[in-house]
Amino acid sequence: IRSDYNEVSDYIATYVKNRILEYKPTRERPFVLGLPTGSSPVGLYKCLVKFYKNKELSFKNVVTFNMDEYVGLPRDHPESYHSFMWHNLFKHIDISPDNVNILDGNAENLSEECVRYEEKIKSVGGIELFIGGIGPDGHIAFNEPGSSLTSRTRVKTLAYDTILANSRFFDNDINKVPRMALTVGVGTVMDAREVAVIITGAHKAIALSKCIEEGVNHMWTVSAIQLHPKALIVCDEDATLEL
Ligand code: GLP
Repeated sequence: IRSDYNEVSDYIATYVKNRILEYKPTRERPFVLGLPTGSSPVGLYKCLVKFYKNKELSFKNVVTFNMDEYVGLPRDHPESYHSFMWHNLFKHIDISPDNVNILDGNAENLSEECVRYEEKIKSVGGIELFIGGIGPDGHIAFNEPGSSLTSRTRVKTLAYDTILANSRFFDNDINKVPRMALTVGVGTVMDAREVAVIITGAHKAIALSKCIEEGVNHMWTVSAIQLHPKALIVCDEDATLEL
């Protein structure tokens, strides 16, 4: 628990930096990092860019996999998760575009795209550290309430609450929010050797309490991390209101 969003961002960024440095990644043995979008990781990405600019950290031998992407939103749309990631992180650091993996929400065959993604993760030896954020309904990636806790990467119809929450990025117009997304599954996240989740703000307080103080429950999909051997939640004081 850290006092506020900035402290949370500093903490998780330093954590990620140390994990990458300890790992000593090489071309043959890259560090594989799972990444989220949303407002939760913006501060983390700012800190990582700062570390890169200060020459404290290089991303040359880091491979990334993003959690999710909207279906049907053009890749260059300002709210696509492709745009988000390049704008907030990738274009500011020394990562090779070949090492960046983001689901293609415009693929001709969406199911095949999901299978390809899972295979690609496997082919690089799995994810070392998966960082996530959550929705106020406790979803991790786009694993909406009711998702199987063993789910893999797939197409998901977004819950009304998620469409409403994300409409703030689409001129507050729920009709502009895509109805579907591609998302890694809860099982995909759980396969990572380590999972770290950022939870900030009073609007996430119920989700945090459901996640750690109640049983593992597919209606609050992030609660699956209770079963993970190496999981970390980094939250601010506001998010702890219901604990
Ligand atoms: C979307 C993303 C999630 C993210 C959530 C929370 O629904 N698919 O991966 O965790 O938003 O967003 P924010 O961090 O803006 O609260």
